[in-house]
Amino acid sequence: MEIKKLHLIYFSPSGSTEKIIKFMADCLKDKNLPIETHSLLTSESRKKKYKFNADELVIMGSMTAGKLFTLSDELFNCLEADNTPFIGFVTYGNGYYGIALNEMLERAEKSGFKVSALGAFIARHSMKASIAKGRPDPHDKEIMKDFITKAYEKIMSGDLTLHKLPKTNWSSWELGNQVIAYRETHRNEPYSLPRDCNKRLQRENHFR
Ligand SMILES: Cc1cc2nc3c(=O)[nH]c(=O)nc-3n(C[C@H](O)[C@H](O)[C@H](O)COP(=O)(O)O)c2cc1C
Repeated sequence: MEIKKLHLIYFSPSGSTEKIIKFMADCLKDKNLPIETHSLLTSESRKKKYKFNADELVIMGSMTAGKLFTLSDELFNCLEADNTPFIGFVTYGNGYYGIALNEMLERAEKSGFKVSALGAFIARHSMKASIAKGRPDPHDKEIMKDFITKAYEKIMSGDLTLHKLPKTNWSSWELGNQVIAYRETHRNEPYSLPRDCNKRLQRENHFR
């Protein structure tokens, strides 16, 4: 398959997601693709329509708050694809990314993309700089490089399918389990949870 152009789309209020997507594009620089970048941070930018062809590749990155950020309807409503290969990733501050990847998959497919690879990466917490400080670090970057180069090669081989659905191994109440996992390793770090999450965790006595 031939790719004629690379589009980078990102929602990155504090800049980590933007840095990561540009790092990924840099990992593909030997492909010599023309690159167009689209930041969807401002409401103006989300009022435009962005159209993508089947011979272009879209990499999209978004920060998360347990889900895609509240503007995710706007993020995807302005994108119109025609079976365009799509590599998506989310960033999170070493807490939890919840349903964000499933949400990205669903919305990207609805906008006409062929979702070919999805990933989640830790970046410095934009609300509290001491959490996930220094991330992504060199090891994270190796993983990102591996992710983007393998995803690109897979697409080039003509395989646009997602091999596995986003999978977290958490049980039915995914969000709560991720929070618990976080607290097990970061017991002394302050962390504010969504309100109903807090209530449920307290009821189930997870905060002993
Ligand atoms: C309002 C808000 C809520 C967030 N909620 C979470 C969260 O629930 N879990 C988590 O791990 N990180 C959370 N984060 C951290 C961001 O997802 C993370 O720092 C992300 O990499 C920021 O990307 P950016 O620098 O591109 O804006 C939150 C950040 C903000 C601003």
